[in-house]
Amino acid sequence: MKIEWKGREAINNIKPYSPGKAIDEVKKEFGLKNIYKMASNENPLGPSQLAIEAIKNNTSNIHIYPDGCSLLLKESIAKKNNINTQQIIVGNGSDEIIKLLGESFLEKGDTIIMGEPSFSEYDYIGNLMGAKVKKIPLVNFAFDLEEILDNLDDSVKIIALCNPNNPTGTVIEKDELISFIDRVPEKIIVVLDEAYKEYAGDNFYSGLNFIKKEKNNVLILNTFSKIYGLAALRVGYGIGSESLISWITRAKEPFNVNVLAQVGAMAALEDIEHLKRSIALNDSGKAFLYKEFSERNFDYSPSGANFIWVDIKNDSKKVFDGLLKKGIIIRPGYVFGADNHIRVTIDKPEINRYFLDMLDEVIREI
Ligand SMILES: Cc1ncc(COP(=O)(O)O)c(C=O)c1O
Repeated sequence: MKIEWKGREAINNIKPYSPGKAIDEVKKEFGLKNIYKMASNENPLGPSQLAIEAIKNNTSNIHIYPDGCSLLLKESIAKKNNINTQQIIVGNGSDEIIKLLGESFLEKGDTIIMGEPSFSEYDYIGNLMGAKVKKIPLVNFAFDLEEILDNLDDSVKIIALCNPNNPTGTVIEKDELISFIDRVPEKIIVVLDEAYKEYAGDNFYSGLNFIKKEKNNVLILNTFSKIYGLAALRVGYGIGSESLISWITRAKEPFNVNVLAQVGAMAALEDIEHLKRSIALNDSGKAFLYKEFSERNFDYSPSGANFIWVDIKNDSKKVFDGLLKKGIIIRPGYVFGADNHIRVTIDKPEINRYFLDMLDEVIREI
């Protein structure tokens, strides 16, 4: 007799994550040679040469287990941010740290609050742990911080704010953030997920400021997957109070970050020129796409990130399918509950141009 397995009740509520389509999958499906992936907000310039060199120089060490504490990388991060290494956790992507956070703090019946639409990993950890996920709709594409405060009760353990937000790109203003953090009870952890902060401009107010002022309930998350161009290696980090970090670290696997990721990330941190080039490319691509979207009367929300959330006034599923056949992968809005929006990663000039030409063609054909 065949057994019908039944997993934990909490798992029952989890819809498998649907990532952007993989390049090889699209090549095969449509017999295409060139694919432009504008769906997952990677850096079109790729990684820093310094990171590539460091990785090459360490390939002969892969028979040795990596440093389970990622100590040298932590020391680099600590130095850059003027904090100590006990305030840092390094993860197999920031995704891992989000999961560890859930495993460390969420009990059945607790609540995690997030925005809608926002990054789905927060929904996932809530469901995984059997917690309630309260989604507060965005207003004008931004977090409704007042509404979040109005929804706080004894069951709330975590508030997750992506700053800039994914998928809308909106950034929380300094004064608004300070006033919000002031009003959140200290027993609630506020995650400020700053995966795209490098793109957000000089006025960006990082959660690091709170951590330095000993706000013990703030956790910030950063990643090497976006501007640092190391998405495939899987490495990200969290910064918080020593106590908060020590609890999250308890849930960690012993050797969670591989050696190539550790050395690549350390080298990438030093390559300021690569960072500057990446920001400049993104700024000019953003200005170009804003102009082109405006000319088509497509409303977009101004973005502090390397992607744009834009209302293309057509069914995003059809636009996604149409673009796919032309070798362009974007993120359709319907997966976030916004049928006429798409999220598109800002790419190199010629690819941005090609994307617009193909978008026009696809919309004409709908
Ligand atoms: C807001 C946000 N946080 C975290 C991540 C995960 O990044 P990582 O590759 O470090 O797991 C992403 C990736 O898309 C993201 O958009």
